[in-house]
Amino acid sequence: MKLGVNIDHIAVLKAARKIADPDVLQAVFVAAQNGADQITIHLREDRRHIDDYDAKRIIANSPIPVNMECAFEVIDEIIKYRPFRATLVPEKREEVTTEGGLDVENSFARVKRTIERLKDCEIAVSLFIEPNKAAIDLAFRGGADTVEFHTGRFSNLWAMLNGILYRTPYAVKELISFSKEELKRELELEIQKIKKAVAFANELGLSVAAGHGLNYHNVGEIAAIEGIEELNIGQSIVARSIWTGFSVAVREMSALIKK
Ligand code: PXP
Repeated sequence: MKLGVNIDHIAVLKAARKIADPDVLQAVFVAAQNGADQITIHLREDRRHIDDYDAKRIIANSPIPVNMECAFEVIDEIIKYRPFRATLVPEKREEVTTEGGLDVENSFARVKRTIERLKDCEIAVSLFIEPNKAAIDLAFRGGADTVEFHTGRFSNLWAMLNGILYRTPYAVKELISFSKEELKRELELEIQKIKKAVAFANELGLSVAAGHGLNYHNVGEIAAIEGIEELNIGQSIVARSIWTGFSVAVREMSALIKK
């Protein structure tokens, strides 16, 4: 199992002051030295975290592959910067983070064209999608190399069931009316859904990644799924690094998923 460390939240800290501290390139080297197999960055249209200057420096200097998340709107930049892989994600200006998978059905022609453009430039392509058969099939037909399954629903169910989220202002609105028994059942169904999606994608020859909302407590259940090659994890690693330092936080996550 490979670990992709998403360093966007380090860039958020830098962007908050608009100075060169903390240096995100240093984070790339520290991650690589402590078990990361890949660096993931999301060049958002509003550049709210990683900016073009850092994206270029990271791609030019990273000792490990750089996976760049992006919406259609920044494809020209991705083609110019040439990361190892582009992960197409949906992006809404007002969202705090990527809220769901790409709607491949309603943007298939655009997705296919974009994949062709990227592959012509020898950039591998992943699509960030919901774990369902229709989306996987379209990703395959569109020419993607990898599918990354959005684990947001899994993470939300897990947090509502096992964490303290239930009693906080951050409780997930759609899940608040569920009893613990219902949450348990929904979580089990979601895990089964992800397992089936992984098996189907593997059958088609697609590589499978997963990510969103994974943390030190819930990652074991996703890491145990046969056929997932890579997990992309950001928020929980950067959050833990406040207490442990970034190298320890990366090392601890790496140890959990590489058991
Ligand atoms: N994978 C993708 C495609 C994402 O968009 C994100 C969030 O930026 C992640 C993984 C990492 O999610 P988190 O920060 O919740 O670990």
